[in-house]
Amino acid sequence: MQPIFLIGYMGCGKSTLGRAVSALTGMRFIDLDSYIESRYGMAITEIFSAYGEDGFRQREHEMLVEVSSFSDVLVACGGGTPCFGDNIGLMNRCGLTVFLEAGVARLHQRLMQGRHKRPLIVGMDSAQLLSFICESLKKREPFYSQASIRFKSDLLDCEADKETTARRFINEVIENCNLYRK
Ligand code: S3P
Repeated sequence: MQPIFLIGYMGCGKSTLGRAVSALTGMRFIDLDSYIESRYGMAITEIFSAYGEDGFRQREHEMLVEVSSFSDVLVACGGGTPCFGDNIGLMNRCGLTVFLEAGVARLHQRLMQGRHKRPLIVGMDSAQLLSFICESLKKREPFYSQASIRFKSDLLDCEADKETTARRFINEVIENCNLYRK
């Protein structure tokens, strides 16, 4: 089976859902940010400070090309991965793309907790974060919309919710994978 790519805004639950689906199915899970970190031996925040966002995007693209050639993997991309170069085209050619959609309030709530490890939003207060989410989501939507499937990912905040959403993902996406193949 070709890779399944989870795409969507920061905080939409790509890594959380990917891990939960992997735990239930045994499918190999790759978190693209962690893959980049272990390859370069640097945290994402360190890569941003050492090479800037462009340097990060270049490394992100290289690692995406690499994982796109793997079989039977579930890949959680970074929020910006599909929005640069032809990454979305590459993912659509090599596998199945799934856009995880969560409401702005849910993204805001999750990102208030996870701001410190995300260089684009580190140090923002609640109001700044909210307007940043609204503005950048508008710019990114045209890329996310190129995914083959949309999947609602609001419900992921406790163990029971994670399991329910992961089971829905398996039913709606994985078990119907051959239906989406071009
Ligand atoms: C980014 C999202 C992050 C990470 C980097 C840039 C983005 O991944 O790749 O900080 O541009 O939205 P998550 O979506 O996993 O937070």
